[in-house]
Amino acid sequence: MKFFLDTADLSEIEEVASWGALAGVTTNPSLYARTGGKLEDFEGHLKKICDLVDGPVSGEVTAEDRDGMVEQGRKLAALADNMVVKIPVCVEGLAATRTLSSEGIDVNMTLVFSVPQALLAARAGARYISPFIGRFDDIAEDGLGQLEDIVTAVKNYDFGHEVEIIAASVRSANHVTQAALMGADIATVPYAAMKKCIKHPLTDQGLAKFKADWEKVK
Ligand code: E4P
Repeated sequence: MKFFLDTADLSEIEEVASWGALAGVTTNPSLYARTGGKLEDFEGHLKKICDLVDGPVSGEVTAEDRDGMVEQGRKLAALADNMVVKIPVCVEGLAATRTLSSEGIDVNMTLVFSVPQALLAARAGARYISPFIGRFDDIAEDGLGQLEDIVTAVKNYDFGHEVEIIAASVRSANHVTQAALMGADIATVPYAAMKKCIKHPLTDQGLAKFKADWEKVK
């Protein structure tokens, strides 16, 4: 499984990229708003992220009709070679995905919460499909169970193009573990959860013991 960072924060991206295992970044309008960025700086900001990351960077359209999504998607895709256009799954989004994917633009279909949505996204030409785990859990549903169903269903078929499933709305290291065990291709993980993925109390204890024993050697 590959690790993407789910953020629009440049310093978080820079730091995690320096760890050596970052394969991509996903952003959304809320994550960009959280940086304090303004509308006029949005494209420049995405371009900076694309320059920092050696891998796909998803930038989301905000238009709500298919023509607007296509126009915005083309503009975003032109920012950098590694730009992926993120589009919400809905009738207009599927139609825009068909147009953009037929032009060779990679689409990440987002806000996916069901197997039919995922299959329709793949059929419309989406290169990436993003089922949300945490937000499903938030409404007392089984986010990981839903992800597993989507992985199984999508991997049953050949869509005539590569389709990768991004486990999104990840809140914990356990979400990452379970997503990997069920065969999700990618997990997009927020900075705080990414740090939790590295930490383990036994690793910390082991390091402290090695350090103490090394002092005896000295
Ligand atoms: C996916 O690409 C989204 O940006 C993201 O994972 C949203 O998750 P949230 O539920 O933490 O907002």
